Amino acid sequence: MKNLIVAGLLMPVLFCFCTNPKSESFDVNQSLDYCNDQVNKTLTEIGDTNMLPTNILDSVKHWKMVEIRAWTSGFWPGILWYDYEHTKNEEIKAHAIHYTEILEPLSRSRATDHDLGFKVFCSFGNAYRLTGNEAYKEVIIRTADTLATLYNPVVGTLLSWPGMVKKMDWPHNTIVDNLMNLEMLFWASKNGGSKDLYDIALSHAKVTMQNHFREDGSSYHVAVYDTISGKFIKGVTHQGYADNTMWARGQAWGIYGYTMIYRETGDKTFLRFAEKITDVFLKRLPEDRVPYWDFDAPGIPNEPKDASASAIVASALLELSQLEDNAELGKKYKQTAIKILESLSSANYQSRDTKPSFLLHSTGHKPNGGEVDAAIIYADYYYIEALTRLAKLQSASGTKSDEN
Ligand code: GLY
Repeated sequence: MKNLIVAGLLMPVLFCFCTNPKSESFDVNQSLDYCNDQVNKTLTEIGDTNMLPTNILDSVKHWKMVEIRAWTSGFWPGILWYDYEHTKNEEIKAHAIHYTEILEPLSRSRATDHDLGFKVFCSFGNAYRLTGNEAYKEVIIRTADTLATLYNPVVGTLLSWPGMVKKMDWPHNTIVDNLMNLEMLFWASKNGGSKDLYDIALSHAKVTMQNHFREDGSSYHVAVYDTISGKFIKGVTHQGYADNTMWARGQAWGIYGYTMIYRETGDKTFLRFAEKITDVFLKRLPEDRVPYWDFDAPGIPNEPKDASASAIVASALLELSQLEDNAELGKKYKQTAIKILESLSSANYQSRDTKPSFLLHSTGHKPNGGEVDAAIIYADYYYIEALTRLAKLQSASGTKSDEN
């Protein structure tokens, strides 16, 4: 009997020790080393091909590969550049160059949707940042000009999905994700491209701020506009649960987007707006700081999570913490980013020996059953970007603590 009581007392302690991720300590450089191990596993699996890894569904162990026109094509080369930045390994650099340069044809074709920024800035943007190769800059500027052809001056935003105009009767549609692609326009305008690119990006940011978010700061996925009057018609969803709910990754794109827009413009209206839309996301996060795929999905807590949304927000918050004019808020954003990264770096979210990706448990398109509870390449991209940002902040301040 006594033994049973002792065992009963010990079991929760042992269980906690074995399964509670909080018992692991989070070290940013160890996590970057982990990413490097996983990158090498992927390279062993795929070598240098003309296709790019995009996801690993729950039931499989190997990457699904896509061609360069897929919206996710820029993330794998981007990951290789961040890994090269950490390891300084010339072999990784050679792979990064290969996977970047196979995307070059994208800069020579027309814009079929807004994703050109994701594809070309995550790849060539990082490539230029780390190598200074002028040919890469040319690719970015050319692609920015192509992306700008989707701009509608009557509405003041870029058209996101030309293919949905007739299909959905959305005459001019702009999705919240599109904010991310403005970074390539801002960059190109400041690095030898046309000044018009800056004006287009600024207009898109202002019009989106006016129409795409509800009073409480949560976002619609899609804003539909009239092409004659330029007026906002309605906010709807495509990848979220319902028109009036907060799709987790959409809100994450908004947070990252307005942080970047404030960095590029210096206009404090955008800083205050980034704070507002961050607040509604952080307030509603579950305890492990990884949201369900939609904050208002009806089956919570039995809905799939979206680790990609947390990775995007962690990266954004690290930048926002440095841009803040309110020191307390800046400190809170940095500490929150670290806590998110700590959670993502636990056994609950890292793929470790099960798959060659960095992270598990992202959700791509739940309403059509696509990529539900999967490893997805953009979760890995923003995870390694966030880790890289944190490593730089810690090395600049000479500390591993979460103090500013
Ligand atoms: N930009 C597409 C997505 O977030 O699923």
